[in-house]
Amino acid sequence: MAKAPVIKINNLSKKFMLGDVEVQALQSVSLEIYSGEFIVFFGVSGCGKSTLMSMIAGLQPPSTGSILIRGEDLAKLNSNELAQHRRTKIGMVFQAFNLIQTMNVIENISLPLAFARISKGRRIKRAENLLEVVGMSKYKNRAPNQLSGGQQQRIAIARSLVANPWIILADEPTGNLDSKSADDVMRLLVSLNRKSKRTVILITHNPDYLQFADRVFYMQDGKVIKVEANAHAVTFNEKGKSATSSASKEDDFVIDDDTKDEVPDKPNTEETKAASDIPEENGNTENTTGESENKEEEVEAKN
Ligand SMILES: Nc1ncnc2c1ncn2[C@@H]1O[C@H](COP(=O)(O)OP(=O)(O)OP(=O)(O)O)[C@@H](O)[C@H]1O
Ligand SMILES: [Mg+2]
Repeated sequence: MAKAPVIKINNLSKKFMLGDVEVQALQSVSLEIYSGEFIVFFGVSGCGKSTLMSMIAGLQPPSTGSILIRGEDLAKLNSNELAQHRRTKIGMVFQAFNLIQTMNVIENISLPLAFARISKGRRIKRAENLLEVVGMSKYKNRAPNQLSGGQQQRIAIARSLVANPWIILADEPTGNLDSKSADDVMRLLVSLNRKSKRTVILITHNPDYLQFADRVFYMQDGKVIKVEANAHAVTFNEKGKSATSSASKEDDFVIDDDTKDEVPDKPNTEETKAASDIPEENGNTENTTGESENKEEEVEAKN
């Protein structure tokens, strides 16, 4: 039987109204993304990349068309279910790191789990494991503004992973970084994909990064105009970049998780059920992540 896509987008369009002017941000986009793929969206400013990503995250509804995540149509989810979708299925990383300045590193990483029924001790242990994964253990008590941009982005990546998401959406995560920090962040994303089998969707303007993708979706004027499959997507080591710069070696970026290798033929009802057990602790359903107790030990740093 053919593999089921983790993301299936059918004839998706998105219009915005700016006063009387209609902006067609996306037009008739159809695509499928499979579990474990490293996908890059590439195209000039304004072509619709971030709009598409925010719609995959369920942050805005389609004008027409549909988005199915493991067979589940986002349009059929109510606002609580959409919040759960974001908390449990999607890890998001942005160009602006969006860390909370009044919290230290460990608090930032564990924050999404504050909305799940997980004890503080276990939340901190999880955050510490992820800090190790991103090579930042010794900075755990720092405030974000005491870190470099590249270090902050690694913290943001750790935070995106804390709820063990299926899909990592990274919207220009290297856009604010110097080239060495950018390479460190890319090395981490590539490793999370190759070694930990996360589905990674990256928006970048850097053509150097296309070689890491299994497939590149080229966008223009709200449309996907070309899809290029890359039979030999490279790792950092193959590319000849140093694997021992300020980030740890690539092998250090392994998250032990045997649940991400398979794509179920239908939505993972167990996981959905577990996620639905998480209470809404306040009205703020944006940018929060939660997690069920029984998934607690799935993400562990391996050493
Ligand atoms: N909330 C909004 N209201 C009106 N127009 C919007 C809104 N969000 C995006 N747009 C428009 O939709 C189009 C696509 O925007 P989008 O942010 O998706 O582009 P992008 O490809 O991510 O660009 P960049 O590379 O600069 O980040 C642009 O013309 C933008 O001005
Ligand atoms: Mg954008």
